[in-house]
Amino acid sequence: MKHLISIDDLTRQDAIDVLDTAEHMAQTQSRSIRKLPTLVGRTVVNLFFEDSTRTRISFEAAAKRLSADIINFSAKGSSLSKGESLKDTALTLDAMGADAIVVRSSSSGAAHLLANAGWIDKPIVNAGDGTHEHPTQALLDAYTLRRHLVEGPTGSDLAGKRVIIVGDILHSRVARSNVKLLSLLGASVTLVAPPALIPIGVQSWPCEVSYSLDAAIAEGADAVMMLRVQRERMVGGGFFPTEGEYSRRFGLSTDRADRLPDHAVVLHPGPMNRGFEIASDVADGPRSVIVEQVNNGVSVRMSVLYHVLAAHTEEAS
Ligand code: CP
Repeated sequence: MKHLISIDDLTRQDAIDVLDTAEHMAQTQSRSIRKLPTLVGRTVVNLFFEDSTRTRISFEAAAKRLSADIINFSAKGSSLSKGESLKDTALTLDAMGADAIVVRSSSSGAAHLLANAGWIDKPIVNAGDGTHEHPTQALLDAYTLRRHLVEGPTGSDLAGKRVIIVGDILHSRVARSNVKLLSLLGASVTLVAPPALIPIGVQSWPCEVSYSLDAAIAEGADAVMMLRVQRERMVGGGFFPTEGEYSRRFGLSTDRADRLPDHAVVLHPGPMNRGFEIASDVADGPRSVIVEQVNNGVSVRMSVLYHVLAAHTEEAS
């Protein structure tokens, strides 16, 4: 794995290897070994053109726990506000000794461009690009599901598990990456949303589509993943149905959560709109693995940084 731009960069075995390495990383953390010497002398750059809490902080924690140096770069306050291009920003970071670049952008394709334009020859990790993909979020979600749903998770996939993904599929890079990864790992996925929030072309995705959360829950599920309605990506501010109707039909209320099988878990990538797409009692309830997702994100991102930098070192030697 030279770069991680999309789940398409991974084979099933690559994905299992990343999850297994993350499991190993998590075990070292639980034994209070807070720092591994794996990436000592390497520099990871967090290049964030779009706001982030969880992803930016967990990549920073992951790099530090592997003993790498980390440079945090955000568009606000940089020369990008003076019109500097992505190319010149990348060349500057390369000149400063970046060994890997983690990039988030509101532009779909930004990470692909950095990896393939020929400006720099360093591993690029996509930390979310527009409405395209968020592969490390999908990996941490799969890791969390595997821990809850599979006995002796190491080496396993998610074959036979059923995951419902609910909400603003249209604008969700998390949904796109999750549909690809969960199906690669053998799970079946059902997307649930109002028709206005289902992307054109979804028929070619490896998943089912439903317009009724109640019907999807009635068929049984091992996990329900709720998504945020991304008003900031809705051109012209359009949002259909009304917020009240959306919440009634597509929100995960306590009543709906109570109809899930006992073992089923509830996920949300964050940030959440409590009381809108998910009831606070469900977000904080016994089925919720939302805080655990954040914690697992550090181990999974340690694993991803290890894999891309190891591949780059092998290629260079
Ligand atoms: N899940 C996720 O990407 O969250 P942030 O936007 O806070 O990084």
